[in-house]
Amino acid sequence: MTGPGVPEPLVVVVTGASSGIGRATAVMLSNEGAHVVLAARSKAALLDAQRECAPGSTHVVPADVSRAQEVDALLAAAVDRYGRVDAVVHSAAVLAYGRFEDVPKDVFDASINVTLLGTATVARAALQQFSRQGTGSLVVVGSLLGKIAVPYMSSYVTAKWGVHGLVRCLQIETRHTPDVNVSLVWPGGVNTPVYTQAGTYLGRHGRPPPPIVSPERVARAIVRRIEHPARETSVGPANFVSVLGFRVLPGVFDTLVTPLMRLGGLSLVRADPTPGNVLEPQPSGEATHGEWGGSWPRRLTVAGARAAGSLRDAANALVAAANLRVEATNARHDRGTDSSGGAAT
Ligand SMILES: NC(=O)c1ccc[n+]([C@@H]2O[C@H](COP(=O)([O-])OP(=O)(O)OC[C@H]3O[C@@H](n4cnc5c(N)ncnc54)[C@H](OP(=O)(O)O)[C@@H]3O)[C@@H](O)[C@H]2O)c1
Repeated sequence: MTGPGVPEPLVVVVTGASSGIGRATAVMLSNEGAHVVLAARSKAALLDAQRECAPGSTHVVPADVSRAQEVDALLAAAVDRYGRVDAVVHSAAVLAYGRFEDVPKDVFDASINVTLLGTATVARAALQQFSRQGTGSLVVVGSLLGKIAVPYMSSYVTAKWGVHGLVRCLQIETRHTPDVNVSLVWPGGVNTPVYTQAGTYLGRHGRPPPPIVSPERVARAIVRRIEHPARETSVGPANFVSVLGFRVLPGVFDTLVTPLMRLGGLSLVRADPTPGNVLEPQPSGEATHGEWGGSWPRRLTVAGARAAGSLRDAANALVAAANLRVEATNARHDRGTDSSGGAAT
């Protein structure tokens, strides 16, 4: 409802709106009365997310944040539809697990292209629009891994350190325009599908390191920053301890981080090498929540299904190996028969 004395609904563009934190943020904003423009690569997953939002409050615009033309078109579509853009929430990111030298160059480069350069592309389009309007709020989702380093996630750590640096530069550059603001929200482990959607060249998928928070908790912090901007907002009870350890005791940190990563940051389930959603979206894996929250029965069911899948894979591999052995024995036997036959002639 609009009219004298009734505030206009906020108009917010959300990237990464089809899954995890972006999706939780879009749903929360729409339920609170905002007009939300949902963006990500997969239209099917965006339409799923739209169904969870308040009816009539959203507009879906598929866009790849690593393509400047698509990002410009996204902002233009928001202005066309709602007349202005009050805020942009940038949540889109991808990553691949693996030792640096094991991650293929195209996958590493694409991760940086989306997660770091995509942030720059979205920030540029948002700030240009805010500058035309004289007002606007950009909220960028960073990460604890934009503050510390861990093994097997070099593309992500590299990108997120860049994202944090970029955001600080933008905060300084926008100081002379008090109605244009840039905020950084940096979570620790969050229960979203990002870990199973990620590429992996490590033989295992990732998992969120404990303590794990819900995507709604991060969304709440993001929504607050739209109207109450702040330089940095940490979401995660162990974030500051991790940063302190990394900065003050780097030797101890480096000794402990690899075993801790293997224990708490990687799934036990075997995974074949895959680029995951780095090069193309995987809409069937997109949802608000990952598999690490909810009731114990639900978690055990999911873990059981994945373990059964691994056992099945292992059994298939054993059968294939046994078949190869039998074929090799038969071939040896055939050669033996041939040669004795040859000797007889
Ligand atoms: N989950 C955590 O534990 C955690 C912790 C710290 C920080 N974060 C940060 O939180 C943000 C959201 O992560 P999440 O956990 O919610 O991940 P997620 O569930 O995997 O969602 C990622 C979203 O980004 C979209 N996306 C990926 N590549 C894109 C591209 N090139 N262009 C446009 N959209 C793209 C995906 O949709 P399509 O694939 O369909 O495009 C999806 O909507 C990220 O910045 C991540 O770094 C997450």
